[in-house]
Amino acid sequence: MNILLLGGGGREHALAWKLAQSPRCDSLYAAPGNPGIAEHAEIVGLDATDHGAVARFCDAHLIGLVVIGPEAPLVDGLADSLRAAGISVFGPSKAAAQLEGSKAFTKALCDRAGIPTASYVHAHCKADALAALDRFATPVVIKADGLAAGKGVVIAQTADEARAAIDDMFDGAFGTAGAEVVIEEFLTGEEVSLFALTDSATIVPFGSAQDHKRVGHGDTGPNTGGMGAYSPAHVLTPALEAEAMTRIVAPTVKAMADAGTPYSGVLYAGLMLTPDGPKLIEYNARFGDPECQVLLMRYRGDLVELLSACADNRLASLPPPQFSAEVALTVVMAAKGYPGTPSKGGAIEGIALAEATGAKVFHAGTARSPEGALIANGGRVLNVTAKGDTVRAAQARAYAAVDALRFPDGFCRRDIGQKEVDREAGTA
Ligand code: AMP
Ligand code: GLY
Repeated sequence: MNILLLGGGGREHALAWKLAQSPRCDSLYAAPGNPGIAEHAEIVGLDATDHGAVARFCDAHLIGLVVIGPEAPLVDGLADSLRAAGISVFGPSKAAAQLEGSKAFTKALCDRAGIPTASYVHAHCKADALAALDRFATPVVIKADGLAAGKGVVIAQTADEARAAIDDMFDGAFGTAGAEVVIEEFLTGEEVSLFALTDSATIVPFGSAQDHKRVGHGDTGPNTGGMGAYSPAHVLTPALEAEAMTRIVAPTVKAMADAGTPYSGVLYAGLMLTPDGPKLIEYNARFGDPECQVLLMRYRGDLVELLSACADNRLASLPPPQFSAEVALTVVMAAKGYPGTPSKGGAIEGIALAEATGAKVFHAGTARSPEGALIANGGRVLNVTAKGDTVRAAQARAYAAVDALRFPDGFCRRDIGQKEVDREAGTA
């Protein structure tokens, strides 16, 4: 089968790496891709916002499956346009991607389906938002309704901070994403990510992970897209996972089908493990980045078969996905300045040395210089990923590989997985 993969980050490098391993994969094409993806796929110049051009490419290259990595083309309805042209797509429709694209949409669905989540108010104007603040204790969470590249969430410690965040959002700090705001009760507990694949009729769990969203050591500094992750997340015990599947994921998939907007693809549930059980923080309509990298390091099956069965409503015909019992851990190397303005063009050397340790280095924001050298070209640049029998072993291997790299313009957190390492050691 010929496959087209859309996206160009570390998540898509991991997808390309795994798709290319399948005996079912004939030609793999990617757009925009990156130098890591180029090792597995032919990079093509396609603009994902030009749905007609993508459909024509699929026709011309006999594409049997399109895999859409990032959220923007999903929320933009690319999957709908391709399906309308008779092309198989892994990824939800525009209406179903509202689970990620609008926080208020998801909160309303949780209300209808009785899904455990933080209590909230959906405000359409600044005056309503400010008036609603009285109903919440501090800290209180202020969220821009729409997509804001992971940056539209403020955890306000005081009412003044909350008012300032509301002012910012309605004054356009996040563009149209902040035209409506959701104010939420602050949940306490540990965060964990649960992944499920669904074709709407069948739902299968696809592993768990813990991300590290803050830029600095010990979860300090501003939020990022994720500075590292490991899988599986043992805090999500089998019992808690089953509870989250039954009380959160399954009712969501049913509510989407009942609304006439069936969900198909991967559903990424960001959960808070509260004293009252798992509660939904947010949904994403795609794989996490860098969570996908650790999930796919552990996934034992044929990814083409799995994603294509999901796209074609055949998930029920496959055995449940199997994962290695090993832990996978990934460390994000970012360019200095991230999550602000990252420095571009920094030289990267030593990937072969890093991989000689047994690790896998996924490319995120990399590019080739005119001379062909590998350089940094984005905020998150590399995902250094390793496996081990324990989080401690995977962590040690990943950092050994990090230390083999030469990327003077880069930095990483040195404590990815540390909370779990301490738990393993019985010191947490
Ligand atoms: P989101 O973009 O909705 O995932 O929010 C980004 C981060 O903000 C989450 O990963 C949580 O760490 C935090 N967060 C969001 N909503 C809440 C909440 N209701 N209570 C506590 N923390 C939250
Ligand atoms: N790593 C967080 C995300 O992909 O949303």
